[in-house]
Amino acid sequence: MKKIPDLRLSALFILLIFIIQTISSSVFPLITIIAINMGYIKNPNPVIMLTFILVFSIIIGVIMAKIISKRVLKPITDLNEATKKVAKGDFNVQIEEIGIGKEIKEMTHSFNIMTKELKNIETFRNDFVSNVSHEFKTPLSAIEGYATLLQDENISKNERENYIERIISSSKRLSTLSGNILMISKLENQEIVLDKRKFSLDEQIRSCILSLEHLWSEKNISLDIEMDNVVFYGNKSMVSHIWFNIISNAIKFTPNGGLISVKMKNENNWVKVVISDTGIGMSEEVKKHIFEKFYCADKSRNDSGNGLGLTLVKRIIELCGGKIEVESQKNIGAKFTVKLPNITET
Ligand SMILES: Nc1ncnc2c1ncn2[C@@H]1O[C@H](COP(=O)(O)OP(=O)(O)OP(=O)(O)O)[C@@H](O)[C@H]1O
Ligand SMILES: [Mg+2]
Repeated sequence: MKKIPDLRLSALFILLIFIIQTISSSVFPLITIIAINMGYIKNPNPVIMLTFILVFSIIIGVIMAKIISKRVLKPITDLNEATKKVAKGDFNVQIEEIGIGKEIKEMTHSFNIMTKELKNIETFRNDFVSNVSHEFKTPLSAIEGYATLLQDENISKNERENYIERIISSSKRLSTLSGNILMISKLENQEIVLDKRKFSLDEQIRSCILSLEHLWSEKNISLDIEMDNVVFYGNKSMVSHIWFNIISNAIKFTPNGGLISVKMKNENNWVKVVISDTGIGMSEEVKKHIFEKFYCADKSRNDSGNGLGLTLVKRIIELCGGKIEVESQKNIGAKFTVKLPNITET
C-alpha cells in the first residue's frame, strides 16, 4: 500500500519523458518526410538530412523539457525558497498550491498548513508571555507602592495595617499565579493520572466548602448540599482543584444573599457533580471563552483573578477522562456539570 504514491509520481515522470521523447524524435522526421513527398526537398542527402533531423530533434527536446520541467519544478523551487524563509523565522509565507501530480499538490498544501500552525503557535506564545508579564506586573507594582508608603514614619497605625494587608494579599496573588502557571504547564505535558488512590469524594467536596467558609459566610450566601457517598479512585490533590476553582468562582460571582447548590450523584461508573449559583451569570459570548488561559469577562472587578482557574479545571477533567459542561444566563446564574469516570482498579 505504501508504495502506491511513489509509483504514481514516478509513472507521471515516465509519461512526461515519453511525451518529450516521442514529440522531439518524431516531429522533425515527419516534417522532413512530408517535405520530401511533396517535392519541397529534391535529391535529399541522407547524411545532411540525418544531421538536420538529429540537431532539430535535440533542440525540440530541450525546449519541451525546459517548458515542462519549469511547470513541474516550480512548486519545488517555490518550496525551497519558502523553507529558507521559515528557517529564518518568517511564518507568514504561503506558496501557490499548484503542480503536476497529487503528491506535489499535497506537499505544497501541507506546507501551507504547517506555516499557518507555526504562526498560531508563535502568536499564542507571544500572547502567553505578555499575559504572564501583565498579570505579574499588577501585584508587583502594588507591593512596591505600599512598601514605599510604609517607609513614611508619620503614617497612622491603621494606615500601616492596611498597607501591610495589601502587601500580603498581593504576595498571595503572586504566589497563586505562579503556582497555577506551573501547574498548567505540568498538566499540559502530562498524559496520564499518576498517584491514584481511593478516597471519599463527598468528604473532599465538603472540606473544600468548609475551607471557603469565610468567603461565603461573609456574603451571607446559603448553601444547598446534596451528595451521595462516593468512593472515588483518582489523584486526590489534583481532583480537589476542580471543586476549589468552581466553588470559589460561584462564591466570587454570586452577590450577597445568593444561593449555591452542590449536588453529586453516583451513576454506574460515573460521578456527576452539579455546582450551580444564583450569581451574575454569563452571556453566550463569555461562555465561549471561559476555559481559555487568562480569560476574565470583567478585569475591572477588584476580586477578579488571573483567569487560569477554569483552564486548570478543564485540563484536570480531560486527564481524568471526564467532561465539563456549563449552562448560564446573564444575571440569572451559572451551572457547571462535571462528569468523571469512576473505575476502581484493584
Ligand atoms: N460561576 C460563575 N458565574 C459567572 N461567571 C463565571 C463563573 N465562573 C466563571 N465565570 C467567568 O469565567 C471567567 C474565567 O474563570 P476562571 O476561574 O478561569 O478565572 P478567574 O476566576 O477570573 O481567575 P482565577 O480562577 O485564576 O482566580 C471568570 O473571570 C468569569 O468571567
Ligand atoms: Mg476562578
